[in-house]
Amino acid sequence: MDNSKSYRPQTIAVRGGQIRSSENEHSEAIFTTSSFVFESAAQAAKLFSQQEEGNIYSRFTNPSVQAFERRLALMEQGQACVATASGMSALLSLCMTLLNAGDHVVASRSIFGANFTLLKQLLGRFDIQTTFVSLVDLKEWEQAIQSNTKMVFFETPSNPLMELGDISAIAELAHAANPQIKVVVDNCFCTPALQQPLTLGADVVIHSATKAIDGQGRCVGGAVVGDEQLVGKDMVAFMRTAGPSMSPFNAWVFTKALETLELRVNQSCDNALILARRLDDHPKVKRVYYPGLESHSQFDLCRQQQRKAGAVVSFEVEGGQDSAWSVIDKAQLLSRTSNLGDTRTTITHPFTTTHARWSEEDKHAAGITPSLIRVAVGLEHPDDVFEDLVLS
Ligand SMILES: Cc1ncc(COP(=O)(O)O)c(C=O)c1O
Repeated sequence: MDNSKSYRPQTIAVRGGQIRSSENEHSEAIFTTSSFVFESAAQAAKLFSQQEEGNIYSRFTNPSVQAFERRLALMEQGQACVATASGMSALLSLCMTLLNAGDHVVASRSIFGANFTLLKQLLGRFDIQTTFVSLVDLKEWEQAIQSNTKMVFFETPSNPLMELGDISAIAELAHAANPQIKVVVDNCFCTPALQQPLTLGADVVIHSATKAIDGQGRCVGGAVVGDEQLVGKDMVAFMRTAGPSMSPFNAWVFTKALETLELRVNQSCDNALILARRLDDHPKVKRVYYPGLESHSQFDLCRQQQRKAGAVVSFEVEGGQDSAWSVIDKAQLLSRTSNLGDTRTTITHPFTTTHARWSEEDKHAAGITPSLIRVAVGLEHPDDVFEDLVLS
């Protein structure tokens, strides 16, 4: 690639960030090595004192991991990316880099269960308090920001109810209150194929690469994308010491998967829209949560902020938890698993799985009811997916 040229997203996805070795391989190599050798004691000293750039040890840097980081940074239009061992370690590492005891976080109430627990309980133990607000209510965001607020955090669309946070509006109000506040968006439901939060005013994007980035349910991983100082320097220093790094093999899988990300995400969104429309017409379905439906209150925001509406469709059935479990248990084709972003459609009951550790009160406040089913749509024919949902 010509580094002085700005290539289009599809080109970056298949070619961006590659580090070609002296073997001149066409496809990216996997560097499964824990350490690297030095030409001399003097060179080792230069590398350790950072007078010279280069690889020392794979907890710090590894060419396979760097290829993934460089490609994802380009796709998200960020300056730097740090790959992590999981999506959860992406959030934890970012918080450990950014926050100190006494700091305050404002976060959406509608976030993935473990993200909620990490902020509420784990960070709470270290005197970092989080105020949870409604993702969609800008007034609540504004009122929750305090003089010690360092970070605001949300997922959009949210899991599992597919509510959208208005990225530009939340970033604007947070930065107006204090330009130092970091606006952090978990972009794992959309990926850069559908939405690039950094171009809408966010400061940091985090990912669970385990989801659509891998897209075939093989590896666990995560990433943080942002500016050179916070991510390229401060987070790199944290990773070097604390060590929740991504394995070279997983990085290689994710790098290759980025090449087909847009094709997979686009097709699964088209399939999800078909499913959402059919469920919306079904007499046994009480309510469908999908922002690609014209009846959805955030349909316009969805069109403005995302290229397509996403691949997750959640819906409530008549008859409570028994009916929801019956639909899940009768599925012959859909995978009963809580992962999402896969080529294979998955079905889950958030109330008793992904959000089981939440209190009844928290679940109620977030709108996660016993009759709710989440379907993360993949690449099977949409007729087969719909026919597998026995809604009697
Ligand atoms: C929105 C969101 N963020 C983060 C995570 C955590 O990612 P991981 O399982 O890779 O640690 C998940 C996992 O389901 C998720 O759905």
